[in-house]
Amino acid sequence: MCGIVGYIGSQEAFPILIKGLHRLEYRGYDSAGVALLNDKGELNVFKTKGKVANLEKFCESKDISGTIGIAHTRWATHGEPSDVNAHPHYSQSKNIALIHNGIIENYLTLKEFLKNEGFSFKTETDTEVLVQLIEYMKGKYSCELYDAVQHALSQVEGAYAIGVIERGRPDVLIAARKGSPLVIGIGENEFFLGSDASPIIEYTKKVVYVEDEEVAKLTRDKDLEIRNLSDVVVKHDVQELKFSLSEIEKGGYPHFMLKEIFEQPKALKMCMNGRVNEQLKEIKLSGIIDNMERFRSAKRILISACGTSWHAGLIGKYLFEYYCKIPVEIEVASEFRYRNPVIFSDDILIAISQSGETADTLAAIELAKASGAFTYGICNVVGSSIARATHSGTYTHAGPEIGVASTKAFTTQVAVLIMMSATIGRQLGTVDNQQYLQLVEGLETIDEKIEEILQQASKIEGISKIFTYARNFIYLGRGYNYPVALEGALKLKEISYIHAEGYPAAEMKHGPIALIDEEMPIVVIAPKFGIYDKILSNVQEVKSRKGRIIAIVTKGDTQIKELADYVIEIPESIDSLSPLLTVVPLQLLSYYVAIAKGRDVDQPRNLAKSVTVE
Ligand code: AGP
Ligand code: GLU
Repeated sequence: MCGIVGYIGSQEAFPILIKGLHRLEYRGYDSAGVALLNDKGELNVFKTKGKVANLEKFCESKDISGTIGIAHTRWATHGEPSDVNAHPHYSQSKNIALIHNGIIENYLTLKEFLKNEGFSFKTETDTEVLVQLIEYMKGKYSCELYDAVQHALSQVEGAYAIGVIERGRPDVLIAARKGSPLVIGIGENEFFLGSDASPIIEYTKKVVYVEDEEVAKLTRDKDLEIRNLSDVVVKHDVQELKFSLSEIEKGGYPHFMLKEIFEQPKALKMCMNGRVNEQLKEIKLSGIIDNMERFRSAKRILISACGTSWHAGLIGKYLFEYYCKIPVEIEVASEFRYRNPVIFSDDILIAISQSGETADTLAAIELAKASGAFTYGICNVVGSSIARATHSGTYTHAGPEIGVASTKAFTTQVAVLIMMSATIGRQLGTVDNQQYLQLVEGLETIDEKIEEILQQASKIEGISKIFTYARNFIYLGRGYNYPVALEGALKLKEISYIHAEGYPAAEMKHGPIALIDEEMPIVVIAPKFGIYDKILSNVQEVKSRKGRIIAIVTKGDTQIKELADYVIEIPESIDSLSPLLTVVPLQLLSYYVAIAKGRDVDQPRNLAKSVTVE
């Protein structure tokens, strides 16, 4: 998610912090800020909406002196991107400043508690709760900042990487982590802090990777000290950085797209955090619960989106009709907006968008609102136009997606649609206990199953090399995996520039079958479910015409294996969750075909990450 930087030493901190923020900007860029302690011990915080360049401009006339500081470039999860919600956050007395990467899950409970203790809040963020809690602990135990941070963190549920400094204490910077990354750079009488090593590598190659639930004390002219939350000293290994700068930004991956494909298990965990409860065996989306009456009275759901998000929406149609028994119409936003659609005031329009800025999808929302319909957004970018234009919604929390070809945004959108249909279906009584439990348990283990598929990357790379000759591809799937066939074809087109078509498998004999010859690669998505036998017949039809079959099958499948030229196995799952698995090998296949053809996968020709024109 966001990027954090820190410095304590003898150099001026500001230029180091700003340079570090630029290097981390790929992690988030909706606002940026810096906190510095000047030589009088005064604590100055400067922050502003927008990119790091805005912050630099904003600071031109400010007191940016000081040899200790922390800085942040945000990717909002709680509270819209704005000046006030930007980090660093002050505590109530303005004595403490804090930067944070992650999500404090129990922030509402803590906020309530702190309000009762007389604290007031200026921002909508979960982060402000943490800095106030540190101040509260300092008061309660009359302790040093380091101990107060330890006390506060032992009350926190969720993920964090933090940097904290205190007015009048220019000699110490506290850092801690759980779940979010944090690296400390060790220089000559100076320390650096970063979400990754990219802000550090220019100054030192010696780093310590902070582990979960560890709190580090970076004291001027002293050795690094790290303890865990139980105050036990932890021995830390100093490691030598061996990467180049660009490798670090991409987390060691050659491209953002590959990094984002591999991030999917983590992205899905973040997306389900606080929503799928493993102990209570419960799925709860507050956006749905808060608006349940609208969903209860809805006669129809309309889904509108573009590109990959539209494919996720198609899966949504299958989900809502099966689990909620509500009829669904789905259409690409650019068509929907111009065909004078009939919209009723008891319709619900669900708009799906990674960027939250897609012009056609925004227009579809305005149209639905004008007819009195309730609008619900599924967006990745917090505070984006679509998130603000809709009445309510759910964020996917996938983290920034940089590669133009959408990958983790798609799987998290599908996960949100699954959680929505489970929540609505439960409330309406259209999902029985067994189905509900299957969904909860399926979602709980989905990350491990995706990991298993990712382990086959080099096998998929091998297959991809065989098919670089191809000028066309056909993708076939049925049911929940028909939209996955469309998505697989779109991914290949976008980044390899090979023409590809996705079809419902049985539709092939109504035309596309004429294209099949011994050169044509056919990707068949055929996990073992109810209509497996039907798709088996479709595979046989392809085989009889000598097409070259790449099949995505459930582990242990024997029948399709016999017919297919190449097989990629996925772990077992229920039908409705299978798109979360079947799409992963298709993403990898497109990536490796594009690489073998020498394409620019992160920035393919003619495309843009966010399409803000019609
Ligand atoms: C996906 O790989 C594409 N780059 C594109 O189809 C994209 O999904 C589409 O433009 C919609 O974008 P959105 O999700 O940001 O609205
Ligand atoms: N949850 C925090 C916020 O919304 C931090 C987000 C981040 O990691 O950028 O401000």
